[in-house]
Amino acid sequence: MRDLVLGIDLGTSGVGVVAQALDGSVAARADHPLQLHTPAPGWTEQDPDEWRQAAEGALREVAAEVGGERVAALALAGQMHGMVARDSAGRAVHRALLWNDQRTAREVEEIHARVGRERLVARTGNPAVTGFQLPKVLWLRRHHPEAFARVTRVMLPKDDLGLHLTGEAVAEPCDASGTSAYHLAERAWDTEVLAALDLDPGLWPRLVSSHAVTGGLRAEVAERVGLPADTPVVAGAGDNAAAATGLALGRAHPEVGSVSLGTSGVLQVPLAEPTPDPEGRVHLFAHADGAFLLLGVTLAAAGSLRWYRDTFAPGSSYAELVAEAARSPVGSNGVTFKPYLAGERTPHLRADLRGSFHGLSLATSHADVVRSVLEGVACSLRDALEVMTPLSRPERLLATGGGTVSDVWLGILADTLDLPLGRPVDDSGSPLEVGAAEGAAWLGWRALGHESERSPRADTWIEPSSERSAATESMYARYGALGTGAPEDRQ
Ligand code: XUL
Repeated sequence: MRDLVLGIDLGTSGVGVVAQALDGSVAARADHPLQLHTPAPGWTEQDPDEWRQAAEGALREVAAEVGGERVAALALAGQMHGMVARDSAGRAVHRALLWNDQRTAREVEEIHARVGRERLVARTGNPAVTGFQLPKVLWLRRHHPEAFARVTRVMLPKDDLGLHLTGEAVAEPCDASGTSAYHLAERAWDTEVLAALDLDPGLWPRLVSSHAVTGGLRAEVAERVGLPADTPVVAGAGDNAAAATGLALGRAHPEVGSVSLGTSGVLQVPLAEPTPDPEGRVHLFAHADGAFLLLGVTLAAAGSLRWYRDTFAPGSSYAELVAEAARSPVGSNGVTFKPYLAGERTPHLRADLRGSFHGLSLATSHADVVRSVLEGVACSLRDALEVMTPLSRPERLLATGGGTVSDVWLGILADTLDLPLGRPVDDSGSPLEVGAAEGAAWLGWRALGHESERSPRADTWIEPSSERSAATESMYARYGALGTGAPEDRQ
C-alpha cells in the first residue's frame, strides 16, 4: 500500500482531482463540471454550494478508484481573484464573483482615487484590476448594502472550498496577492489599503503558508466522499502558482519561466524580490516557495485560433490550420493580427480593446492569415516579456497548454520571444503532468515533509533561429507600430 496525495483544482469549468504518488505519477483523476452564470454582459458568477458538490463528487470518484491505497493528504489549488462573502451563520450572501467578471470598473477607479494607483502598485505589486477581489467587495457594499452589512468573512474560491473541507478559514500568499489587499513585502493583509477604503481587515481570514496543514477533513465530508476523517488538508496555491510549482519553477531556478497557450496565454517568470513594474503593466504575485512570480496574460491565445477556426474555417482541424500557416513566411507576407478578441490584460489592462487584421491585400493567402493569428499571439506574449525584462529575464521557458502541441507555433514563439522553449518532462524523461491539481499535490507532499528535489526539465529545447531573427524583429516592430487600435491610439 503506497501513500497518495489528492490535489484538488477548483477551476472555472470544473473541479479536478488527481491522486498523485510521491514519484509524480497519477493513480487516478476525476473532473466534475461547473455551471457558469452570466446574469449580465461581462458578469461571471458561480454558486459556492456547487463548488462543494462538484469537489465532493470528484473526491468520491477518486477515493473509490484508489481504494486500496492510503490518502495521506489533500491539497488545494484554484481559480484566483474571486470573492465569496459569508455571514456569521456561514451562508454566502451573494453568488461568488469570478476572476473574469468585468462589472467593477467604477470600484477600480474608487480604489485608485482613495489609495493612489502608484502607492497600491508599490505595496500590493499590482494596480486594482476589475477581476481582482477587492473591487468586488466594494461593488457588494455599493449595490447590496444590506447583504454587505451581514458579511463577517470574505474568502477566495479555493479557500472557501477549504473552509468546507476543514471548517477552518485561511488564506495563503499566492492567492491573497491577487486580491489588491495583500502587502507583498510585509506578507500580510494591507491594513492601510483597507483603512483607506473603510474596510474591516477582520473580514479577511488568517494567513498561513502554501504548504501549511490547515486542518483535518471534517467527519461528515469524509463519510460522504469515502476518505478517513481528519485526513490533513493543505492550504495550496492559486492555480498559476500551483502550475508553476508543478513545473518546479521558483527560487531555486530563477533562470527558467513558463509559457502556456491555453484559451488564454500565460507567461510566468520567478522573481526573488517583490519588485513590481512601477506602471503595474504586468502582474506580480507571491509564489508558493516564498519567492514571487511575474505573470503576463494575453486573454485570447489558443482562443484566437479557436475563434478563427470556428468563424472562418469550420470543419478544419487545428493541425490542418497550423500546417497551412507553415506555408507562409515569417511576417505572414505583411498581415498582422491583434489578438484582443476579449480585450487585453498585459500590458494594456483594457477590457475595451478589440482584435483586428491589418495589411490584407489581393495577394493575401489563407496561409498568411492563419500564420498572422499565430504570430499575433506570440507578439502579444512578447509585449508581456518586454515589460518583465527589466525586472527579470528568463534564459528559457517551459511550454504547456494545447497550443504548444504544435512545433510550428512553438517555433514561432521561440523566435518571437527570442528564448529556447521546451515541453516539460519529469526527472526520468517522461512527459510531466502539468496542471494546477498536480502542483497542489506537490505542495501536499511538501507539507508531509518531502522536500522536492525536482528541477525544471524539457525533452529538447527549441532554439530561436538566427536566420529568421531579422524577419521576426521586423514582424514584431510592425505589430508594435500598429498600437492597440483604441481611438486615442489612432493617428
Ligand atoms: C490570473 C487569472 C487566471 C485565473 C484563472 O491572474 O486571472 O489565470 O487564475 O483561473
